Amino acid sequence: MAKLRSLNLVPLQITLYSLCLFLLFCICLCKENAGHSAYGYPFIRKASTFSSSPSSSLSGVDGGYDYIVVGGGTAGCPLAATLSRNFRVLLLERGGVPFTNVNVSFLGNFHLTLADTSKESASQFFASTDGVLNSRARVLGGGSCINAGFYTRANPEFIRKVGWDEQLVNESYPWVEQQIVQRPDFAPWQRAFRDSLLDIGVSPYNGFTYDHIYGTKFGGTIFDRFGRRHTAAELLASANPHMLTVLIYATVEKVVFDTSGKRPKAAGVVFKDENGNRHHAFLSRNVQSEVIMSSGAIGSPQLLLLSGIGPKPDLEKLNISVVFDNENVGKGMADNPMNTIFMPTNRPIKQSLIQTVGITKLGVYLESSSGFGQSMDSIRCHHGIASAEIGQLSTIPPKQRTPEAIQAYARNKRNLPYEVFQGGFILEKLANPLSSGDLKLVNTNPEDNPSVTFNYFSNPHDLRRCVAGIRLAVRVARSKHFAGFTRLDRPTSEKLLNISVRANVNLIPKHMNDTASLEQFCRDTVITIWHYHGGCHVGKVVDGKNRVMGVDRLRVVDGSTFSASPGTNPQATVMMMGRYMGVKILRERLGKDAGV
Ligand SMILES: Cc1cc2nc3c(=O)[nH]c(=O)nc-3n(C[C@H](O)[C@H](O)[C@H](O)COP(=O)(O)OP(=O)(O)OC[C@H]3O[C@@H](n4cnc5c(N)ncnc54)[C@H](O)[C@@H]3O)c2cc1C
Ligand SMILES: *[C@@H]1O[C@H](CO)[C@@H](O)[C@H](O)[C@H]1NC(C)=O
Ligand SMILES: *[C@@H]1O[C@H](CO)[C@@H](O)[C@H](O)[C@H]1NC(C)=O
Ligand SMILES: *[C@@H]1O[C@H](CO)[C@@H](O)[C@H](O)[C@H]1NC(C)=O
Ligand SMILES: *[C@@H]1O[C@H](CO)[C@@H](O)[C@H](O)[C@H]1NC(C)=O
Ligand SMILES: *[C@@H]1O[C@H](CO)[C@@H](O)[C@H](O)[C@H]1NC(C)=O
Repeated sequence: MAKLRSLNLVPLQITLYSLCLFLLFCICLCKENAGHSAYGYPFIRKASTFSSSPSSSLSGVDGGYDYIVVGGGTAGCPLAATLSRNFRVLLLERGGVPFTNVNVSFLGNFHLTLADTSKESASQFFASTDGVLNSRARVLGGGSCINAGFYTRANPEFIRKVGWDEQLVNESYPWVEQQIVQRPDFAPWQRAFRDSLLDIGVSPYNGFTYDHIYGTKFGGTIFDRFGRRHTAAELLASANPHMLTVLIYATVEKVVFDTSGKRPKAAGVVFKDENGNRHHAFLSRNVQSEVIMSSGAIGSPQLLLLSGIGPKPDLEKLNISVVFDNENVGKGMADNPMNTIFMPTNRPIKQSLIQTVGITKLGVYLESSSGFGQSMDSIRCHHGIASAEIGQLSTIPPKQRTPEAIQAYARNKRNLPYEVFQGGFILEKLANPLSSGDLKLVNTNPEDNPSVTFNYFSNPHDLRRCVAGIRLAVRVARSKHFAGFTRLDRPTSEKLLNISVRANVNLIPKHMNDTASLEQFCRDTVITIWHYHGGCHVGKVVDGKNRVMGVDRLRVVDGSTFSASPGTNPQATVMMMGRYMGVKILRERLGKDAGV
């Protein structure tokens, strides 16, 4: 029976179609770069090819770089591309390139990267001490290579609070959008979701917009109409190819400092290549040269600690020599909790990640995804954005979500009826959680995850808002616009009700009027929407210009500096920030001569 179902031809056609497109893309890529590079752009090389000798054509007269950017992620790529317009830049990324990775490149493979726990995966699993399983990017392009692709700007209040120049912000978003962002084709499920949001009063309808406005809208996406992903790594096309070197498989171990003067100043970095060999890269002597950390909300605080900037007692425990004692490094880590309701459908429906969002006045955002598993015998049978294999094991309380529990689920799911794998999720993201935690090193290996705690719902206000959000999500789920999708015959719906736990899906909670039981639902089913941030807060670890306090020539430019996740989803603002900070730095250094 299971075998027969997997012969369903539609998914097969889709798979073949994406495969052809992918091959075509690879061929184009090879042609474009014939004789230049195997990695998409001529300036991208493996870390082992690095030579720090002064003869290196890209380094300055004294053998150093003007900027060393650590982490080629969502912020790091636009930042390095921008700085290279005028200066010699070295960008170091621990992962490989995304361009020829079929898991990264297609919307339909979203869950495959996240489920891949190998060292070669573009995604690295981590579990916070809360028990919620989570992912960090490990690839050039960072989170933009493994995320759900939704693109939407920050609200103006966020921009004002961080004190950015609004006009430059308004110029920097379009710089990103023109290169990699598209208007999506509305999936049927997303249309029903929109109509349902409007029905329950999440209004007005704001149509297609990147802006963050109360009501219901549909936003941008980094997937094109063939379902192919465009990432921050493509923003490197805007670099000056003669001024930029990108090293992949370069894992930075620490920043090194010159401590001979009054204040420690960054001198360069130490990194390991793909063969495990260690290299030193240096900044030029110019006082304005800088190391810039763009290693993400886990990587940047981790690397500051490894470099000797952080709480002295913690550093001393690991024999890390203290460069600057700052108890705030790694503090204020937050992750927006996500809770979901699954709506089984009466037929297979088109896969969609996030396209529509309801921006409510309750402090929650409502989003949605849809899809169906393609066969009963592999990872291809999945729940997309909430698959257990990617860590979203939401039917058991966080502390019980062990690797064994995931494996047990994967084994058991073969016995589940296929109806369980077709449907959609209504997701609730809590905006601006007041609960927060911290990040601490467990050892000095930069490849290992630090210990991270988010303390989901430790603040009662967060719990209250979650309950209000669930009530709203249920009203959406019950709206007439979904009826055509969700009307099931009685035996089927009973069957589904019976197996929801084994199928790892949360259906509509039974006791909607019982606040205590909804609070329990929030705690027990909490998963992540991967918008974790913090650890290097402005005013605590970095100053208003993102310069690391207590030392010279070191900045942090990424989501670790945020005290809230911008927009309904953050990537637009993280990419914009890379561009924005690059332009700011160039203008500060060159004045009107900055050609950007
Ligand atoms: C599964 C998932 C789904 C998401 N969905 C969405 C969505 O739909 N829309 C949205 O807006 N946002 C989404 N997000 C969030 C968004 O993608 C992230 O917030 C954003 O990409 C973070 O950017 P960053 O620059 O701070 O970090 P990253 O993009 O993670 O960049 C950090 C980079 O630094 C590298 N690095 C780390 N340590 C080192 C080291 N020691 N040496 C060298 N390199 C190092 C990493 O490999 C990585 O490439 C999602 C995230 C995930 C994980
Ligand atoms: C894609 O993901 C699958 C399953 O997670 C994994 O087995 C495979 O190795 C990955 N392929 C690539 C090219 O990374
Ligand atoms: C920037 O754009 C926002 C939203 O589109 C707008 O409200 C604001 O007035 C603009 N600010 C400037 C300085 O152009
Ligand atoms: C720190 O150094 C001391 C003395 O050299 C050693 O005994 C101890 O094991 C080291 N601790 C760690 C965590 O490396
Ligand atoms: C629900 O599960 C119970 C226990 O496994 C079983 O006895 C019952 O028949 C099931 N009901 C339906 C409608 O499948
Ligand atoms: C929940 O409360 C509402 C309003 O007080 C009431 O109309 C409804 O019947 C209640 N539902 C249940 C299941 O108790």
